[in-house]
Amino acid sequence: MKNLFKKFSKTGILVIGDLMIDQYIWGKVRRISPEAPVPVVEVTEEEMLLGGAANVANNVLSLGGKVFITGAIGMDDKGKILINKLEEKGFGTDGIIMDENRSTTVKTRVIAHNQQVVRFDREVKSDIGKSTVSSILDYVRSSLHEIKGIIISDYCKGLITKTLIKKLIELTESKVFIAVDPKTGHFDYYKGVDLITPNIGEASFGAGIDIKDDETLAAAGEILLKKLQCKAVIITRGDEGMTLFEKNGHITSIPTCAREVYEVSGAGDTVIAALTLSHSAGAELKEAADIANHAAGVVVGKLGTAVATQQEILKSMKECKPL
Ligand SMILES: Nc1ncnc2c1ncn2[C@@H]1O[C@H](COP(=O)(O)OP(=O)(O)OP(=O)(O)O)[C@@H](O)[C@H]1O
Ligand SMILES: [Mg+2]
Repeated sequence: MKNLFKKFSKTGILVIGDLMIDQYIWGKVRRISPEAPVPVVEVTEEEMLLGGAANVANNVLSLGGKVFITGAIGMDDKGKILINKLEEKGFGTDGIIMDENRSTTVKTRVIAHNQQVVRFDREVKSDIGKSTVSSILDYVRSSLHEIKGIIISDYCKGLITKTLIKKLIELTESKVFIAVDPKTGHFDYYKGVDLITPNIGEASFGAGIDIKDDETLAAAGEILLKKLQCKAVIITRGDEGMTLFEKNGHITSIPTCAREVYEVSGAGDTVIAALTLSHSAGAELKEAADIANHAAGVVVGKLGTAVATQQEILKSMKECKPL
């Protein structure tokens, strides 16, 4: 494992997808508003974190990978904040395209006494235009000689289009491993990529089968493999871990380890990051899936949108008691 981890820093991974800001506003509630039957939150603290594809990139970085990132933001203050946050962490931002037709995607959660009071989203979800597609492809072309893997982080906010994926596949000529973290609704875009990592709901939708037991799970995996003509499908199953379906017919289920769970959101970002980095650095898919399962387990054991490190993965592997 340590030999594999050593290769991470030389393994270039390009993350392409819907960049977001996850904004958190914390406060206290002492009264109900006289204006409407809603709580009045007295704000005590505020924070902005990298979200969506930017969180995937952050996960690759935390695992020690060499990250390239591309996506679109609006010409607005939140876009500038996102760029600053990326620069603070040491990411290059040449691939971040400012698009005058978009606004930067921001999800704001208001939390009082450990409970989410409301979430509001600011976003433009229409598909990116031709000029943004071509700027993104220019960036991919310029970094191609340095990358071994591409992660497509699709949150259905308009960055990932059918044309963009088709052009990416043409451009990389099967020399770069392409993995997609999909969202319901775009499954016909993903044909010809190497691997996808849907959760149960997304896999059910993509395969047109309601997954409710091992049989329907296996059927959905097979259908997705055939439909998308990819090398592998990993269906993530929350606290039940994940199942890897390979083109050669092998099916491998990986259980999670017993642990305290604090926050499950963001686990999918960690899975695609750890999996693509490990496989691109030379690990077999099974081994890469196992590493990804541990990395996601580490992350659900932390509060907030979190990332995992190599040390935490090694520790999890040592201590794991499969459920
Ligand atoms: N309760 C849990 N205990 C341990 N591991 C978990 C738990 N929930 C999720 N995981 C880990 O995270 C992985 C991804 O979780 P899940 O299947 O919920 O993905 P997802 O729905 O895409 O998540 P996200 O909310 O980030 O989009 C799982 O395969 C597993 O490795
Ligand atoms: Mg997900």
